[in-house]
Amino acid sequence: MSEKKKLLVTGISGLLGWNLFHAAQDRFDTYGTHNTIPIPDADDHVLCLDFLDGMELELLVERIAPDVVIHTAAMTRPDTCEREKELAYQVNTEATKRLATVCHRQGARFIHISTDLVFDGQKGEPYEPDDCMNPLGHYADTKRMAEEAIPEAISNYAIVRVALMYGRSMTGDRGSTERVVNTVRDKNSVTLFTDEWRTPILVDDACAIALGLTDVDATGTFHAGGTERITRYAFGLRLATSAGFDPQTIVPGSIHDFQGSPPRIPDVSLDSSKTTTLLGLHLNDIDAGLARLYPGP
Ligand SMILES: NC(=O)c1ccc[n+]([C@@H]2O[C@H](COP(=O)([O-])OP(=O)(O)OC[C@H]3O[C@@H](n4cnc5c(N)ncnc54)[C@H](OP(=O)(O)O)[C@@H]3O)[C@@H](O)[C@H]2O)c1
Repeated sequence: MSEKKKLLVTGISGLLGWNLFHAAQDRFDTYGTHNTIPIPDADDHVLCLDFLDGMELELLVERIAPDVVIHTAAMTRPDTCEREKELAYQVNTEATKRLATVCHRQGARFIHISTDLVFDGQKGEPYEPDDCMNPLGHYADTKRMAEEAIPEAISNYAIVRVALMYGRSMTGDRGSTERVVNTVRDKNSVTLFTDEWRTPILVDDACAIALGLTDVDATGTFHAGGTERITRYAFGLRLATSAGFDPQTIVPGSIHDFQGSPPRIPDVSLDSSKTTTLLGLHLNDIDAGLARLYPGP
């Protein structure tokens, strides 16, 4: 029997990392890192690591000697990144560069998770992987800088730009969809925008794409968006209905009325056909994805 390859997933206390860590167990000898949130029933394959500690990061990768690293860990809240600019740069850009460099030195394949928000949302049709990045907020800018640094650090890499993700996390409060459901569960309303377009993807499908990219030696940038382009408002209505809440808790608004920072991006829909064709994947549409999360009575 052949030995399983070693996979290191960073950020396993987060939405994507947690799902990836579990989805990969059958195929890989899987290791995972977390930072501030403890992992229940952790064994010696679960490691606590702050990406700000560059030396510890390098030692950890050298000790595990993974064949593949999937890097999901990041500061992911755009508002926090605006407030903590240098910290966000260190975690999202500098630590990613360092991880890519140590992967190159160790001969590991590096799969980096990026975001649809590297685009400015003005194209008016779904973005393809070669379209120009023009991020409008600091979070997205730190992800852009990481994307640009990776090809200089390592040749065996894939960058996966993920769209708005929906699914269940370990902590139950990660990602915008869990936050919407938690708010309406508390009988509060949520304003979502009728002019903010996305291609939401079920977290299981994002995992299938990231894991699929471990099997091929394709290099470059890949999109991971769902099959439907929809507004955040329309998606929120379907989410609330599937989760068994009154759709009237979802209130329509416009990005033009949004006062916060960074600005809301109108349309970062992704064309993911290059990815699904390469990997031979059929992704869930929104009804199928929501039915998996909320199977009903
Ligand atoms: N969620 C989405 O809709 C979405 C959309 C597009 C792209 N993405 C990208 O997908 C990736 C995963 O997103 P997610 O929503 O799953 O993230 P998440 O739930 O916010 O989790 C982030 C993870 O990063 C870890 N982390 C944060 N700062 C760290 C540090 N200084 N050192 C070590 N680990 C640190 C967190 O650890 P602790 O919690 O233990 O502190 C956590 O495990 C990210 O790269 C994000 O940019 C997400």
